[in-house]
Amino acid sequence: MSIVLLTGANRGLGLEFARQYAAEGWQVLAACRRPDAAESLRALAAESAGRVSLHTLDLAAPEQIADLARELAEVELDLLINNAGIYPPSHPLGQIDYPAWEQAFRVNSLAPVMMAEAFAPALARAPAPRIVNITSKMGSIDDNSSGGSYAYRCSKTALNMASVNLAHDLREQGITVLILHPGWVATSMGGPGAPLDVEQSVTGMRRVIAGADLRHSGRLFAYDGSEIPW
Ligand SMILES: NC(=O)c1ccc[n+]([C@@H]2O[C@H](COP(=O)([O-])OP(=O)(O)OC[C@H]3O[C@@H](n4cnc5c(N)ncnc54)[C@H](OP(=O)(O)O)[C@@H]3O)[C@@H](O)[C@H]2O)c1
Repeated sequence: MSIVLLTGANRGLGLEFARQYAAEGWQVLAACRRPDAAESLRALAAESAGRVSLHTLDLAAPEQIADLARELAEVELDLLINNAGIYPPSHPLGQIDYPAWEQAFRVNSLAPVMMAEAFAPALARAPAPRIVNITSKMGSIDDNSSGGSYAYRCSKTALNMASVNLAHDLREQGITVLILHPGWVATSMGGPGAPLDVEQSVTGMRRVIAGADLRHSGRLFAYDGSEIPW
C-alpha cells in the first residue's frame, strides 16, 4: 500500500487530497494543527477502515516537525505533500505588516524545507518517492502583472527557489520534487468566487503527481499539467 503524508489535511485542498488518496486505497498520514477540532477529517478517518490517521503538526513550531519525524521513523514514505499555507492580508506599500510577512515565510517557505529534511530518510526507502510543494502562480515573477500581496507572493517565490534546490540535493536519492500550482480554487483561501472546486483541482494535481519522475523534478506545473514560467 502506498503511503502519503499531507500537511494542512483538515480542510480545503488538503482535506480533498486526503479523501482522494484514501478512496484510491493509499494509507494517508493526515497532519493538521488541531486533530481534535478537525471534524471532517475525523469523519473521513472513521470511515476509512484504518487507512487515514491523524497527526498533530503546527508548521510554525519546528519541534513538532522533529516529533512527527520521530513518530514516523520506520515509515517507507512514497509521497510528501507540503500543502498547508497562509495568505496574510495584503497591505499596500507604506503599510506592510512585517511580522505577518515573517509568519508567511515560516509557514509557506521554511516549513516545507524542514519537512523535506526531516522526511528525506523515510522517502529514500520508497521505490519512486516524491515531494510535492504546493505553491502559487502568485509566486511567479514572470506572471506578476499587478504587484501587491508582498508577503504571500515572496513566500511562494522563496518556496519555488528552495524547491529547485531540494530537487538538486535529493536527486541522488531518487526523490522527485514537484512544484504545483493548484489553480484558483474555492476554499477558505481562494474564496467562493473561484472558478475551480477542490475536486477538480486535486484530481488534476494527482494526475500530474502520478505521471511525474525525476525528469520533472524542480519544475513548476499547474494542476492541469501545463508548465508555468518562473
Ligand atoms: N485556494 C487557492 O485558490 C490557492 C491558489 C494557489 C495556491 N494555493 C495554495 O494551496 C495550499 C492549500 O490552500 P487552501 O486553498 O486549501 O487553503 P485553506 O483552505 O485556507 O487551508 C489552509 C490549510 O493550511 C493549514 N495551515 C495554516 N497555517 C498552518 C500552520 N502553522 N501549521 C499547519 N497547518 C497550517 C490550515 O490549517 P488550520 O485549519 O489549522 O488553519 C489549513 O489546513 C496553500 O499552500 C495555498 O497557498 C491555494
